[in-house]
Order: sequence, then C-alpha cells, then structure tokens
Amino acid sequence: MEIFLDTADINVIKKYKNFIDGVTTNPSLIAAINGSTTYKIIEEICDVISGPISVEVISNTVDEMFVEGKELAKIHSNVCVKLPCTFEGLQVCKQLSQKGISTNLTLCFSSTQALLAAKCGATYVSPFIGRIDDIGQDGMGLIDEIVNIYDVQKIETKVLAASIRNVNHVIQAAYIGADAITLPEKVLSQCFYHPLTKSGLKKFMQDWNNKDQKDNS
Ligand code: G3P
Repeated sequence: MEIFLDTADINVIKKYKNFIDGVTTNPSLIAAINGSTTYKIIEEICDVISGPISVEVISNTVDEMFVEGKELAKIHSNVCVKLPCTFEGLQVCKQLSQKGISTNLTLCFSSTQALLAAKCGATYVSPFIGRIDDIGQDGMGLIDEIVNIYDVQKIETKVLAASIRNVNHVIQAAYIGADAITLPEKVLSQCFYHPLTKSGLKKFMQDWNNKDQKDNS
C-alpha cells in the first residue's frame, strides 16, 4: 500500500520523507500555507519527494479545468492532477488521461463515482472515509466495496483511502486491500507510537544504566 502524506507543509513533508511514497494536497491545505503560491509550494514538494504529488484544480468548467490541469502537470512529471468526482471533473479526467497525465479523482463518496472515474482512466480514486463516517455512514465499507468491484471488473485505477481520522482506518484500509492511503500528520505520527514500546524502552535503559552503576561500584 502506498502511503501518502496529506499536507502542503514542506517542513512536515521533510520530517516524514523517509516513510512516504508521495503527497496529497487540496485547496484547503494549500490555503493554509502563507506567503507562497501553489506553483512554488508544489515545486518545493517535488524537490523533496520523488513520488506522486496530487494537486487539485480550483476552476469549475470543463475547459478551465482542462487548461489548469495541463498547467499543473507541467510543474513536474510527478504531479497527479486532482479533479472532483463531478460530471465536469470526470470529463476532464478522460481528457487528461488521454494525454498521459496522472489523475486523482477526489471527493468520491460512492461506488458509481468510482466506476465512472475508472471508465475515464483515473490513476487514483479517493473515497473520503472520515467524512462518510462523520454523517453516520460506513466509510470503510465504501473502500471495501470499491476494492471488490475493481477486483471483479479487473480495473487498474488505484483506490486511495482519504479523509483518514485514526490508526484504525490505516489498519482497516491495508487489510481490505486499498492500493494507497493518505494520512494527515496527526495520524501518521500516531502510527509510530505504542505505549508498550515506550515503557519497554524506558525499562531497558534503566536496567542498562543500573548495570553501569554496578560495574563502577
Ligand atoms: O485531501 C483530502 C482529504 O484527505 C481531506 O480529509 O480530513 O478534510 O476530510 P478531511
């Protein structure tokens, strides 16, 4: 499973660069970075990370999104153009795919949207698990459904589990067979932590230091 970091913060990306295969951004994450442009932010990320970097279009019409998508793709060959799972976004997906440009279909909330994304040649489709859970529905159930449909239909579009809220989402997405997952810093940092690792290490160090004291007495 590819692991992406869901952030536009270059310092966070540098901190975790050894553990991630790529980065996903969205307009909210880019807007949170002060004093820079989308293009500069993405260039900087591409200098640090050699895998896919998802960058979302901010225009609305098919023509505008197509032009914007082509411009974003020029920033670096690793840029993956993020498009909404809408009637317009799916058409642009098809156009960009035909030009060999990678795409990530975002704001996916149903298996029919995922089927259409695949039909339009999407590289990734991003079902938003957390936001589905937030309205009392089963986000991970959607990942399971799409993974199974893609498997049965022999579809190559990758399922990218997005809107991840906790480490259980990470484990479940891996268990179900999601091709990729994108994690906010908070969840990625929790993946390293276990209380028994911390307490076990503390005890090892205490015992080692006590040995030194014994040896010196
Ligand atoms: O980048 C898309 C997605 O991961 C956003 O997550 O937490 O805003 O629902 P969230």
